[in-house]
Amino acid sequence: MNYRNNNFYIEKIKAENLIKKYGSPIYCYSNKKLVENINNFKNSFKTFSPLICFSVKSNYNSTILKIIKEHGLGADVVSDGELKKVLSLGFKPNKIVYSGVGKKFEELKFAITKNILLINIESESELRNVQKLAKRFKRKVSVGLRLNPNIDAKTNTKISTGRLQDKFGLNSIDIIKILNKFKNSKNIKIKCLSVHIGSQITENKPYNNVLLAINKILSKSNFKFEYIDLGGGMGIKYSKDNRKLDYSELSKNIYKFSKKNNCKIIFEPGRSIVGDTAVLLTKVIYIKNSSNKKFVIIDAGMNDLIRPALYNATHEIIPLTKKSSRNSSSHDFVGPICETSDRFLKTKNYQKIIEGDNLAIKDVGAYGIVLSSNYNLRPRPVEFIIKNSKIKRISKKQRLNDII
Ligand SMILES: Cc1ncc(COP(=O)(O)O)c(C=O)c1O
Repeated sequence: MNYRNNNFYIEKIKAENLIKKYGSPIYCYSNKKLVENINNFKNSFKTFSPLICFSVKSNYNSTILKIIKEHGLGADVVSDGELKKVLSLGFKPNKIVYSGVGKKFEELKFAITKNILLINIESESELRNVQKLAKRFKRKVSVGLRLNPNIDAKTNTKISTGRLQDKFGLNSIDIIKILNKFKNSKNIKIKCLSVHIGSQITENKPYNNVLLAINKILSKSNFKFEYIDLGGGMGIKYSKDNRKLDYSELSKNIYKFSKKNNCKIIFEPGRSIVGDTAVLLTKVIYIKNSSNKKFVIIDAGMNDLIRPALYNATHEIIPLTKKSSRNSSSHDFVGPICETSDRFLKTKNYQKIIEGDNLAIKDVGAYGIVLSSNYNLRPRPVEFIIKNSKIKRISKKQRLNDII
């Protein structure tokens, strides 16, 4: 996705033409970028060939999931719906891990009957439910224990999951207790220790701290796990002052760790696979000059992309046609939703824009469409994928009358 002759292109398609033909707001993915990210992730960690289970919560569009599956990845699911979806798309059960803090009895029952690789357990009560079901079905069920290592991922507090005040996982004392209680269970096979401390992590230090915390548990418990699941969380570059996580250092450290402990590694990446594969195309409806700023009111709202409102996330907004004239005043890009938090970006010195101009909100492939809603009774945006010069619609258009 880049500019050619001042026009923004997604592969071989001029983005302006997409809005002309299909309207706005619309999500547009690049097939090439997605495949590039998958291959880059695989290559970065090839010294220890991890099982890469794509985090389906970040994007569960069927076409996107099929491409991911065709490139050999498994799936990390967090609900009955996600599990049923990936099974229906043909993901192999032995490449599926099931995370989540509140899986119900019926949901566990379904997962057990499907023989998935791991159910990652987050409380002793959950493990007892699995044991009950395993006995009932006369099976030995493979589980992972999710550790809460009390490590601050140094990311946005709303996407931090590895501190003791966060609801996720079991603390190290409880992990040891459970290992002692269940290690000889007839119906439970503890195969994995899993950790996921948060999302959009751009430094290696939190991951290094996780490896140290796991090493401590391994030496204290003297228990042999077949798998260590290090979760996802790998950060991407959303803006110029942001950096992407450096995979080369991470890869070296994990390689050493896996050799020392003779274990297989699982990853659950979401954002790093799909985050920068999509843009949200949108049109400027109005420009309102207020005392010392311009409100640029666009036709995408927080119902289409909630990350800025929910997490104060920054997404760059770029014009689909570049112009040379600039305007130095402060611009507030806001949506049409009746909420003050429906704002996307504040910036200065933007190119001169007028009503009717078209823009792209960047890096919306992860936690974009999956978090969209019908708030303010607006239809959700349609998704397209571009492959070379082919355009394919990959989600159903919601008709206003249907949602009314
Ligand atoms: C258990 C679990 N695994 C994996 C992920 C994926 O994280 P990310 O998209 O940051 O890679 C999440 C998301 O928060 C998660 O909760």
